[in-house]
Amino acid sequence: MPNPTTPKTYRVKNFGCQMNVYDGERMAELLADRGMTAAAEGQDADLVVLNTCHIREKAAEKVYSDIGRLTKVDGSKPLIAVAGCVAQAEGEEIMARAPAVSMVVGPQAYHRLPVLLDKAAKGERATDTDMPANAKFDQLPQRRRIGPAAFLTIQEGCDKFCTYCVVPYTRGAEISRPFKDLVAEAERLVENGAREITLLGQNVNAWSGENAAGQAVSFDGLIRSLAKLPDLQRIRYTTSHPMDVTDGLIAAHGEEPKLMPYLHLPVQSGSDRVLRAMNRSHTADSYLKLLERFRAARPDIALSGDFIVGFPGETEAEFEDTLSLVDEVRYAQAYSFKYSARPGTPAADMEDTIAAEVMDERLQRLQAAINRDQLAFNQASVGKTCEVLVERKGKYPGQWLGKSPWLQSVHFTGDAGIGDLTTVELAEAGPNSLSGRLLVPATV
Ligand code: 5AD
Ligand code: SF4
Repeated sequence: MPNPTTPKTYRVKNFGCQMNVYDGERMAELLADRGMTAAAEGQDADLVVLNTCHIREKAAEKVYSDIGRLTKVDGSKPLIAVAGCVAQAEGEEIMARAPAVSMVVGPQAYHRLPVLLDKAAKGERATDTDMPANAKFDQLPQRRRIGPAAFLTIQEGCDKFCTYCVVPYTRGAEISRPFKDLVAEAERLVENGAREITLLGQNVNAWSGENAAGQAVSFDGLIRSLAKLPDLQRIRYTTSHPMDVTDGLIAAHGEEPKLMPYLHLPVQSGSDRVLRAMNRSHTADSYLKLLERFRAARPDIALSGDFIVGFPGETEAEFEDTLSLVDEVRYAQAYSFKYSARPGTPAADMEDTIAAEVMDERLQRLQAAINRDQLAFNQASVGKTCEVLVERKGKYPGQWLGKSPWLQSVHFTGDAGIGDLTTVELAEAGPNSLSGRLLVPATV
């Protein structure tokens, strides 16, 4: 391990999902609270936090190769902390195999990063992968320096136990953060410049809480309460589980204008046999019926999903059921993955694994169908006038980048600034973005 020193600069490298992005921001705030500063782009950092993901593929191998590559210009190693889900799942092995790592900290324990840092400054290596329910959030510093689109983790963990998934093991059981803490954090985000908040959770719509009067608040109740913050313009959420969709949530899409017309609702497969083997607790048909209800409440809603191809035993006909489901839904956007056996999950012991070439071929066919629909969705948006929340500058002078209500990336040139909610006519569509014409500079 490197010589014990007090690190002055840090870099947090996030992998995986948006919950890791949120955790990475919170770790950066903890480090900033200790007087450390973020290392500038291209500059060495004294401390590097690898905030890892364990969901697919050879995640741990990637972490080891990243650790190997982390070297400062003078050839020395920075102080290295491994955080996130690989840290949770394989912390001990990391400590044994990678002497360059000083700290291993799990996703439920990173509020104690400063304690680990104090030990590291004395030359001690330390691991913290405890899972204390809810303690973390109470001990994090106040939010600061927020861009116009912010993340807010409201729920963590998963009780669904899909047979392929590590999340119930790495992130633990489902817990909801208290209502009053979430309102306070959202207020703070808005005071610091957020105009859009994406509520995050592994099963975000399983969130439940209580208001100050002790009355139960459901997920859509939380959305409706946050929508009352005057300077908050937009609310999004991800990722939802079909099982936790309520009538109230569907109704909120029709009733609450600040709730954006976008839904990410993973289905994983279009085959009922595969869905049962995955322990998904819905069928292809019940999923399609749910989407119809969202579309009835909000006809322009953009739909998104996740898919796994090559789950053990998946036949060609079962895969074709997935293609048929995609054809039927016409997703605005979707994510597809090759099945990856995760150690410790029930599916890892299943027989009839699918050959790599078959998985590759299925993934290609599925992605072609998804790309076709994504382009068609973008093309169908051309000519619409919508609000675009400006998130950053574009590549060219006077160019701005932002998001449409349907989460499309939109670029345009004109008189605007970061954080503006501009009115734009969508002019040209590509598979991944659209160009727009600025109609009204700013409404915020
Ligand atoms: N193999 C492949 N994809 C997976 N996902 C989760 N676990 C696995 C796995 N073992 C995908 C699912 C999930 C998304 C976050 O990652 O599609 O919705
Ligand atoms: Fe990856 Fe899941 Fe952990 Fe997110 S919660 S970082 S997707 S393993």
